[in-house]
Amino acid sequence: MPTISTTDYLVDKVKRQITTSPFLTLPGMGQFERRLLTHEWPQHAWADPPSGSDLKPVMGDNGLPILGHMIEMFRGGPDFWLHLYRTRGPVSLLDSPILPSIVALGPDAIQALYSNRNKDFSQQGWVPAIGPFFKRGLMLLDFDEHMYHRRIMQEAFVRTRLAGYTEHVDTVVSKVISKDWVANDARFLLYPAMKELTLDIASMVFMGHEPGTDRELVTKVNRAFIITTRAGNAIIRTSVPPFTWWRGLKAREYLERYFEERVKERRGKDGSDLLTVLCQSADEDGNKFSDSDIVNHMIFLMMAAHDTSASTATTMSYYLAANPEWQQRCRDESDRLGDGPLDIEALEKLESLDLVMNESIRLVSPVQWAMRQTVRDTELLGYFLPKGTNVIGYPGMNHRLAEIYPDPYKFDPERFAEPRNEHKKHRYGFTPFGGGAHKCIGMVFGQLEVKTIMHRLLRRYRLELPRPGYEPRYDYGGMPVPMDGMPIVLRPLR
Ligand code: HEM
Repeated sequence: MPTISTTDYLVDKVKRQITTSPFLTLPGMGQFERRLLTHEWPQHAWADPPSGSDLKPVMGDNGLPILGHMIEMFRGGPDFWLHLYRTRGPVSLLDSPILPSIVALGPDAIQALYSNRNKDFSQQGWVPAIGPFFKRGLMLLDFDEHMYHRRIMQEAFVRTRLAGYTEHVDTVVSKVISKDWVANDARFLLYPAMKELTLDIASMVFMGHEPGTDRELVTKVNRAFIITTRAGNAIIRTSVPPFTWWRGLKAREYLERYFEERVKERRGKDGSDLLTVLCQSADEDGNKFSDSDIVNHMIFLMMAAHDTSASTATTMSYYLAANPEWQQRCRDESDRLGDGPLDIEALEKLESLDLVMNESIRLVSPVQWAMRQTVRDTELLGYFLPKGTNVIGYPGMNHRLAEIYPDPYKFDPERFAEPRNEHKKHRYGFTPFGGGAHKCIGMVFGQLEVKTIMHRLLRRYRLELPRPGYEPRYDYGGMPVPMDGMPIVLRPLR
């Protein structure tokens, strides 16, 4: 079911660079960026603490006119935030006309955001980034309403349901990587191929599109997802045709109409796909989703599931290609399983893949950000935050702290194994799936999906770098995207 070709991807990559991160294409950017990092910007306070309180004001600056610190954010990713943490501490201000925000860095600040003890931080911080396209998705709901929806949705992620999905995942993976992926070709780009694969998986497992479903329809729906997902990165953030934001809203309208029809069809029917399961799911008190709830949840779930899994599987493939001894160790475990049908118990035996997955998403976390907004005047680690303050948490940075992970840039999966267990040094030192009430509901599904992909890949191909010493560079505008599409050579094993 090809939906995005390599050419599409390359055209899109050029467009992304022009429309979302124009500075990535400028030569000498490294130097310019370093100058931005070391420049001494005039400092000001975000808000004065109430008189008599012992809270501190959050200090920071505006950065460049209009752009603020966007260049360093997109170009430097976690390393920019690490620089901020080291030079300004865990709570500082990045003021800008586009999105003035307080930055919360380090494991203690992330703990305060995720555990959210006094319910001071709402998910509305995500709204400026993705709100219009993913409105009323689970991640954008708050407090009691969120719990109500989460309890119903949880029913779709219990182990018996996951067992059913895993079977379908394997069917799609086995077919696509053997038929559609190009072997022995250093021009084969793994990242767009993984995105296409995870979208096909979601299409079958979530929406029940069996192989043989009207291809034109599947392609149209998949494209609408891609457009909706990308719209959050738009530079012109208002609905003006033909720009990205406007296209995202149109695509969202299309998806709403599409799912409204599907929900009508699936109500009262049997089926093991996620959409049909959501039509039946009820919490312990018998509460069920309305039709429009299901439409909103499906649109968000498709987005949450496919990009994150594609990113994880791509990063793992890169590190396995760069570390042949780990590749062989994982393949030995896969060889012990053989080519028989996969189930959850079989996937659980692939323990080296678990270590590699953790280490890969430590180094390149698919979701680097946690956006929040204060619902009342509050404090964060002793700093005063007034009501309505946008807070950017950046848990992806914690994964590079040498105090938690010695030699943090080294690929070393054993750090997750006994006796080292480096990720346990701080409760919030390793949070690729978030934490607290909004912790990823699809975590186990995502892990099973990625392990299925990697098992089938390792049984069929040896993964090689396109050239010795190759290292990918990432665009950190949204989810980390390998700027060259990640060329990986697939050498057939038999
Ligand atoms: C490797 C893959 C994945 C990663 C790294 C990941 C990461 C995350 C993170 C960090 C959050 C928390 C965001 C926040 O606190 O604001 C989250 C939430 C969520 N994820 Fe995932 N995710 C992955 C796969 C999936 C999959 C496969 C699904 C669906 C099947 C999914 C569905 C969701 C949903 C619905 C939420 C919102 C949960 C809530 O607000 O209660 N994710 N994910």
